[in-house]
Amino acid sequence: MNKGWIFITGTSSGIGQHAAKYLSSKGYQVIAGVRDQQSYDRYISIENIHPFIFDTTIEKHHESLVKHLTLNNISLLAIVNNAGVSVWGPILDIPIQYWREIFEVNLFSNIRVTKILLPFLNPTNGKIIQIGSSSDRLGVPLMGAYPIAKLSILRFTEILRRELLLTKKYNKIRVSNLSLGSIKTPIWIKAKNIRFDKNSPIFNLAKEQGLSLIDKEYENATSPLVIAKLIEKIINSKKPRRNYLAGRQSYLLHCFGLMPIFVQDFIFKVMGVFMLKKSK
Ligand SMILES: NC(=O)c1ccc[n+]([C@@H]2O[C@H](COP(=O)([O-])OP(=O)(O)OC[C@H]3O[C@@H](n4cnc5c(N)ncnc54)[C@H](OP(=O)(O)O)[C@@H]3O)[C@@H](O)[C@H]2O)c1
Repeated sequence: MNKGWIFITGTSSGIGQHAAKYLSSKGYQVIAGVRDQQSYDRYISIENIHPFIFDTTIEKHHESLVKHLTLNNISLLAIVNNAGVSVWGPILDIPIQYWREIFEVNLFSNIRVTKILLPFLNPTNGKIIQIGSSSDRLGVPLMGAYPIAKLSILRFTEILRRELLLTKKYNKIRVSNLSLGSIKTPIWIKAKNIRFDKNSPIFNLAKEQGLSLIDKEYENATSPLVIAKLIEKIINSKKPRRNYLAGRQSYLLHCFGLMPIFVQDFIFKVMGVFMLKKSK
């Protein structure tokens, strides 16, 4: 059975891995982007999964993918730009190298992958899906560069969606962004690695509060299978939306983001004072 070809980036773990396994089990042919041999080997024996060494930041990998699709005459039903990294901390205390990494992986890579794969998408029902974050709703202190990159990818989605409508060739291709809340994946475990400057004036407070929030969110997070199913729903939808909210806290952040700024400021101030008192 072949319900269509789907390319997913970052399938070694988390949402990407669940999406690759779920969609392949439903009869889609999944080209699963991975960066290491171990993940590649894990997929080799799984029916309908075709692992492909693909680091989204490496130009050579882009070229090999284009060659592979051309040689095998593959038309894609969907591209899922899932690969992502997260670095949190006080905004001025995140070293610039991590800002670059965040934007390189979460934004620029998605743009490049979308650009090179657009000509391979089925022009009558192709879908481009960006895995974003509900942190794009408002400026939450200590979340660092991550929400800024995710807000940018939401805007990229919106603009591309509207521009494609103006073209003759791609006007039936739809672009959607998923603004996800907390999903139970290794991204949370990786986030325990503190990357912000030890000299930050709020280093101890940020570290203590950040790590306890990570534990709490991870404990209660939504299963990545829910997101894999949502991706399938979007792929099959005739009129997919620009944006989907899904996962723990996503609706809460959405509503918070709709409040007047002075109310948001007040709430964050009260929370900050409470955190400061607690940490003394
Ligand atoms: N989990 C959540 O609560 C949550 C919430 C909102 C949004 N998201 C988004 O969901 C997406 C998937 O994350 P996840 O939660 O499933 O975390 P994850 O398990 O850490 O998965 C991230 C994936 O991205 C891959 N990756 C990182 N840098 C890459 C690069 N340069 N090229 C190719 N692949 C790369 C990783 O591969 P390696 O193993 O090789 O590093 C891994 O497969 C991300 O875009 C993330 O921002 C997650």
